[in-house]
Amino acid sequence: MASVITTFLFIAFVSFTLVKVAFASDPDILTDYVLPPNTTTATDASYFTYTGVRSIVNTTYPSKFTVIKASLKEFPGLLGQSVSYAILQFPVGSLNPLHIHPRATELLFVIAGSLQVGFVDTTNTLFSQKLETGDMFVFPKGLVHYQYNANGTEPALAVSAFGSASAGTQSIANSVFNSTIYEGILAESFKTSADVIEKIESGLKS
Ligand SMILES: *[C@@H]1O[C@H](CO)[C@@H](O)[C@H](O)[C@H]1NC(C)=O
Ligand SMILES: *[C@@H]1O[C@H](CO)[C@@H](O)[C@H](O)[C@H]1NC(C)=O
Ligand SMILES: *[C@@H]1O[C@H](CO)[C@@H](O)[C@H](O)[C@H]1NC(C)=O
Ligand SMILES: *[C@@H]1O[C@H](CO)[C@@H](O)[C@H](O)[C@H]1NC(C)=O
Repeated sequence: MASVITTFLFIAFVSFTLVKVAFASDPDILTDYVLPPNTTTATDASYFTYTGVRSIVNTTYPSKFTVIKASLKEFPGLLGQSVSYAILQFPVGSLNPLHIHPRATELLFVIAGSLQVGFVDTTNTLFSQKLETGDMFVFPKGLVHYQYNANGTEPALAVSAFGSASAGTQSIANSVFNSTIYEGILAESFKTSADVIEKIESGLKS
C-alpha cells in the first residue's frame, strides 16, 4: 500500500500539471490567484494546500464505493485555477453509477486494481473499456458515464482530475427518479406506466 500511495502522490502532481495545460475551461482570472473573500493582504501557503485526502492513508478500504473530492467547495484555494480532483475507491463489485459532470472533462487514472468504464456520446454510442492499473481514460465534458470494479477479489483505486475547480456532479438516477418531477412526465418520457416509475423511485428513496 505504501508504494501505491507514493505512486498516487506522483501521479497526482503530474496530472495536476497536465490538466491545467490541456483542459482548463473555467473563466480566466486577471490575477495570479484569487484570495479568499475579505482578504486584502497576501495569504500564506496554507491557502494553497489541501490535506483532506490524508484520510485515505493508513485506513482500511471502505465497504462501498466512496468518492473523496478536492474541489472548490473543499479547497477554496482552487478558485479561478480551473482544476480539481476526486479520489475514487471501489471495493470489489462496486459501481460509480451513471452520472455527468456539467462543467468539466474528467481524466481518470487507475492507481490500483482494474475498472470497467464507459460513456455515451450525443449519438447514443457507447464507448466502453476495461482499464488495468496504470491506464487512463478521458470522459468528455457533460456526457453520461460510469465506472465499475468487476473484479471479485481486488479493490480498485483511481484518481480523477477535472478541468474545472467545480466540475459538478449530476446523478442520472437521482436527478430523474429521486427529484420531484411529476410521475406522469416520467411515465410519458420513458414510455411506461406510473407503476413502473413508482417502483424505480421507491428503490432510490428507501
Ligand atoms: C466580509 O465582509 C462583509 C462586508 O464588510 C462582512 O459583512 C462579513 O462579516 C465579512 N465576513 C468575514 C468572514 O469576515
Ligand atoms: C501512515 O503510517 C506511517 C507508518 O506508521 C506513518 O509514518 C505515517 O505518518 C502515516 N501517515 C498518515 C497520513 O497518517
Ligand atoms: C482480479 O484481479 C486479480 C489481481 O489483479 C487478477 O489476478 C484476477 O484475474 C482478476 N479477476 C478478474 C475476474 O478479472
Ligand atoms: C434520494 O434523495 C434523498 C433526499 O434528497 C436522499 O436522502 C437519498 O440519499 C437519495 N437516494 C439516493 C439513492 O441517493
